[in-house]
Amino acid sequence: MEKKVITHQCSFCKRTIKVRDQYDMPIYDPSTGFAICKNCVREINHFLDEHEEAAQQEETKAFAGQLDDILAQNKPHIIKQYLDEYIINQDRAKKILSVAVYNHYKRMKYGYLNDDGTEIEKSNVIMLGPSGCGKTALLSHLSKLLDIPFAVTDASSLTEAGFVGADVEVAVRNLYYAADKDIEKAEHGIIYLDEFDKIARKSGANNSITADPGHEGVQQALLKMLEGSVVEFTSRGQRKHPEAPTIKVDTRNILFIVGGAFVGIDDVIAKRLSKTSSIGFGADVQGKDDKPKFDELIHKVRPEDLMQYGIIPEIIGRLPVICTLETLDEDALLRILTEPKNAPVKQYEKLLAMDHVQLEFEEDALRAVAKKAIERKTGARSLKGIIEDVMLDIMFDIPKSDEPRKVIITKDCIENGAKPTVEKLDK
Ligand SMILES: Nc1ncnc2c1ncn2[C@@H]1O[C@H](COP(=O)(O)OP(=O)(O)OP(=O)(O)O)[C@@H](O)[C@H]1O
Ligand SMILES: [Mg+2]
Ligand SMILES: [Zn+2]
Repeated sequence: MEKKVITHQCSFCKRTIKVRDQYDMPIYDPSTGFAICKNCVREINHFLDEHEEAAQQEETKAFAGQLDDILAQNKPHIIKQYLDEYIINQDRAKKILSVAVYNHYKRMKYGYLNDDGTEIEKSNVIMLGPSGCGKTALLSHLSKLLDIPFAVTDASSLTEAGFVGADVEVAVRNLYYAADKDIEKAEHGIIYLDEFDKIARKSGANNSITADPGHEGVQQALLKMLEGSVVEFTSRGQRKHPEAPTIKVDTRNILFIVGGAFVGIDDVIAKRLSKTSSIGFGADVQGKDDKPKFDELIHKVRPEDLMQYGIIPEIIGRLPVICTLETLDEDALLRILTEPKNAPVKQYEKLLAMDHVQLEFEEDALRAVAKKAIERKTGARSLKGIIEDVMLDIMFDIPKSDEPRKVIITKDCIENGAKPTVEKLDK
């Protein structure tokens, strides 16, 4: 039996096409007879591709042009000046981050404009410092300043694929969303991995041998990302299954900054130092009991200490810039209370001013707050809570009257919960 040949006319090129299967006439509407043939579909597709490529190139050029402005506005000293408005001390960390960001922009410009083969390598940064010293705060302020996408991901929430928790791809996905789903922009962004010490291998010297929820696997996966690879992920809210459409982001040019408290690393450093000093210089100079201070030790951290702590050497090799932050002393805490643009005392002053009330913290009172915070050993983190405790009753009672007043917080208020002095002011 001979097969009947169906023909349709392409509405676009007007040719009559023999239709053996749907691929000869990919678009065909039987009710209207509207049809587009295979050749026309191909051609249209080709036009679209060409157009998109050209548009992309235009955009890239435009961005490369903008980079000159961005570079001019983001010189290291300018970035640091901005960070100074919010973060007290930690000058070295601020400098390192400012330079890292500036160089990142430079590399970007270089990548767009030069093809002579010279490569400017990335300088990913690892930050170490005690709890509450400003690591997360530094990076969150930095992120507000930048002209490129920046995403913070908590490394402690990451697990190896297969374990309960987020896969490492989440870090790149967060960046993709920070870039408003612009892949090109995301590929030049910055990823901050917070709580990075939490993925240390549990068999590292610092940890007892306990169950390890895939930390080594997380590190291996992160390593691939740090080395530069194409990371594939599904969009937010979409369950991962084989047919789900994926987004692909190349991490080659993404700058990585990681940070963590690395609790106990001072012991690792002290151990190494005591070993080396006993070889070359004989006697242990330091007495057994007066353990050197955390701050003295932390600045001497070396890659091998991080390895000992449980970070795999390949990762450490990809984090060439080591940045240490210092413990905040009483004077620093005092300044944190009053100086930054978002200082707690400034915030309460503003709040009470709306009730026509002046707020005054006596110097002794502020010092008492700082002392309390030091006792709690969580750096600047507890400052806000201590002040909040003291201020609660005031914030509750003051609005009962509209009279202009002045509230004075004394040392006694902080230490013993005494009532603050309230003075009437002239209208
Ligand atoms: N150097 C600083 N200058 C100004 N504020 C600071 C400073 N350090 C900490 N703070 C304040 O204390 C809070 C806690 O600090 P932050 O979250 O940055 O600590 P961290 O170093 O990330 O500690 P952890 O290792 O525990 O995460 C911040 O919200 C910030 O307001
Ligand atoms: Mg933190
Ligand atoms: Zn056609």
